[in-house]
Amino acid sequence: MKRKVLVIHGPNLNMLGKREPEKYGTSTLDEINTNLKTHGNETDIDVHTFQSNHEGSIVEKIQEARDVFDALIINPASYTHSSIAIRDAVLLLDIPVVEIHLSNIYKRESFRHKSILCDVVTGQIAGFGMYGYIMALDAIINIMKAKKSK
Ligand code: DQA
Repeated sequence: MKRKVLVIHGPNLNMLGKREPEKYGTSTLDEINTNLKTHGNETDIDVHTFQSNHEGSIVEKIQEARDVFDALIINPASYTHSSIAIRDAVLLLDIPVVEIHLSNIYKRESFRHKSILCDVVTGQIAGFGMYGYIMALDAIINIMKAKKSK
């Protein structure tokens, strides 16, 4: 059966392309999602994407991912720095979780240096723009391969 990976994009990421392109690049969210789905197809992975500007909707989506998805890629956007609810939801999962940021949050304002969920995810990728999402999917593919060969 095909492995299923969920990609969650947090608030304001629906505005990518128009939003501070010097920080986040010029690609739209649709382009990022299409690239991820194409890369997934090439590697036999079903990529599902979800974007919300609402904390509760993101929490509900993470809860639904339990027992349904094999891995999660999440850019919680500004909730990275504030949401204990999203952190607690991630703790419900026992699948690989990659936290991803388009920008290098450690090179930016000090309030962005702290990620509330960095210690409950498998790993974090930051600063590689839209390519970071492909890196995240590759990281997951590698984890899945390593599990299979055990
Ligand atoms: C972001 C970084 C966050 O600090 C910011 O609030 C975002 C996007 C990133 O992808 O670089 O909305 O998560």
